[in-house]
Amino acid sequence: ATIDGPKGLPVFGNALQIPKDAPNAYLSELARHYKEGVFQLDLLGRTVLFVSDPDLVAEACDESRFYKPIERALAVVRDFAGDGLFTAREDEPVWGHAHRILMPAFSRRSMKAYFPQMLEICEELIASWESRQGEDLSVADDMTRLTLDVISLTGFDYRFNSFRSPELHPFLQAMGRSLTEAMLRNGQLPLVTSLKRKQEAAYRADIALMQELVDDVIRRRRESGGKGTGDLLGLMLEAADPKTGERLSDENIRNQVLTFLIAGHETTSGLLSFALYNLLRNPHVLAQAYAEVDRLLPGDTVPTYETIMKLDVIPRVLDETLRIWSPIPVFGVKSRHDTTLGPFDVPAGRNVVILLEPLHRHPKAWERPEEFDIDRWLPERKKEHHPSAYKPFGNGERACIGRQFALAEARLALAMLLRRFAISDRDAYRMKVKQTLTLKPEDFTIQVRARKRHE
Ligand code: HEM
Repeated sequence: ATIDGPKGLPVFGNALQIPKDAPNAYLSELARHYKEGVFQLDLLGRTVLFVSDPDLVAEACDESRFYKPIERALAVVRDFAGDGLFTAREDEPVWGHAHRILMPAFSRRSMKAYFPQMLEICEELIASWESRQGEDLSVADDMTRLTLDVISLTGFDYRFNSFRSPELHPFLQAMGRSLTEAMLRNGQLPLVTSLKRKQEAAYRADIALMQELVDDVIRRRRESGGKGTGDLLGLMLEAADPKTGERLSDENIRNQVLTFLIAGHETTSGLLSFALYNLLRNPHVLAQAYAEVDRLLPGDTVPTYETIMKLDVIPRVLDETLRIWSPIPVFGVKSRHDTTLGPFDVPAGRNVVILLEPLHRHPKAWERPEEFDIDRWLPERKKEHHPSAYKPFGNGERACIGRQFALAEARLALAMLLRRFAISDRDAYRMKVKQTLTLKPEDFTIQVRARKRHE
C-alpha cells in the first residue's frame, strides 16, 4: 500500500503549508483527515511520515527497527544542548555514560531526598499567590517560575529566586526565544537561515547567555568544594559510569546542566498549566480534588513524600491532562533498515514522527476521546488501555528520565495550591495553545481566593 499525503510545491514540498507558529495544530488536523493513521509530507526534499494510529505507533516504537535521530528541530536544539542526554546521538558513547551515571538521581529514594526542596519552592508559589488574591495571575509564567526554581535547586543547589521578580529571569527569556528559533529554523531552508543575520546574532547571544549561567552554576559548586551532595551536579562531577568507569568531561557536564535546566522545567510547567485549565472546565473533578486534599492534608499539615504518594484524584488529573494536552507534541524516530508499518513499506533511513495529540485521542484506543475523564486512569480501566496509545514521555531507552520527578513535583504543587485556594477564571478562558517546540496555554489567567475549609 502507498502512503497518502497532501500535494506540495517543487523544492519546498509541503514545508510552506505548515504554519510556522503552530505546526502541531496543522499536523493534528491532517492526521484526522488521513484515516489510515499515517500520512507523508515532503519537507524540503525529504519525505517524512507522520503516524498516529496506535497499532502503527506500536511498530514505530520497536527499537530494533527504529531509533531516535538527532535531526531537524533536535539538530537545532543541539546548538545549545550539545551532547547532553536529550540531544546525544545514538552512536555517541557519552549517552550511555551519562544515562548510567544519572539514573540513580531519578530513583524513588532520590525523589524523597528532593522533597524538602520541592516543598520550599511550592511554598514560595503559595506565598506569592496569597499576596495577589483576586488579581489576574498568569498561570504559565508562575508555573514556569515554580518548575525552573525546583529543578535548579534540587538538581544543582542553585537559586533563581524567580518569585522575587515581576519579570521572568533573563535565562528563561533567552531559552524561550531559542526554542522558538529552533522551531522556526526547522521549517527553513539552510540558505534562508544563513541569510537572516540579525536572527543569527540574537540566537548566538541567547545561547551565550544560557551557557554563561550554566558555567556560573558549575563554578560555584567547584568553589564551594561541594563534595558528596547527591544531586545531579554532584553525581556528574564525582561519579563514574558503573559499566565503563568513564567520567563525564567538563564540556559534557555543561551540556547536561543546560539540558536539565530546559528539559527539567518547560514541560512540567505546561503540564501544571493545562491541569489547572482542565480542573476549571470540569468542576466535578475540581470538587473531587478539593475533597482529596482536605482529607489527606487537613489544616496546616506539612505534606510529606508519603502523603503525596497516597494521592489518587490528583495523579489521575495529571495522567488525563497529559493525554489531552501533551506538552511535548511529537517525537521522532528513523528506520534502521527497510521495514514496514502495518501494510506500508518503509525504506531504511525514513524519518517517522509520532503525533501525540491524534494518538492520544485516537478513537480506536479511547472511548469519547475528547472528553476529560479521569476515571480512565482507575487501575481496572488502565489495564484495558491500548499499550501504545499513550506516549507523553516518549519511548524506550530514550524516554524521559525525569518522568517520576515531574509527576512528584506536579502532584505536590497541585495539592498545595488546591488546599489553600479556590481557583476561578472570570473570563472563562478558552484554550489557545502556544507552541515553542513545547505547548502551553497562551494568556491563561486565573484568580485565587483563600478557601474557607470546614475542618
Ligand atoms: C526526554 C517528556 C519532564 C528530562 C523526554 C521525551 C519526552 C519527554 C517526550 C523524549 C523526547 C524524544 O524522544 O525526543 C516530558 C514531559 C515532562 C518531562 C511531558 C513533564 C510533564 C522532565 C523532567 C526532566 C526531564 C522534570 C528532568 C528532571 C528529560 C531528559 C530527556 C527527556 C534528560 C532525554 C532522555 C534521553 O534521551 O536519555 N521527556 N519530560 N523531563 N526528558 Fe522529559
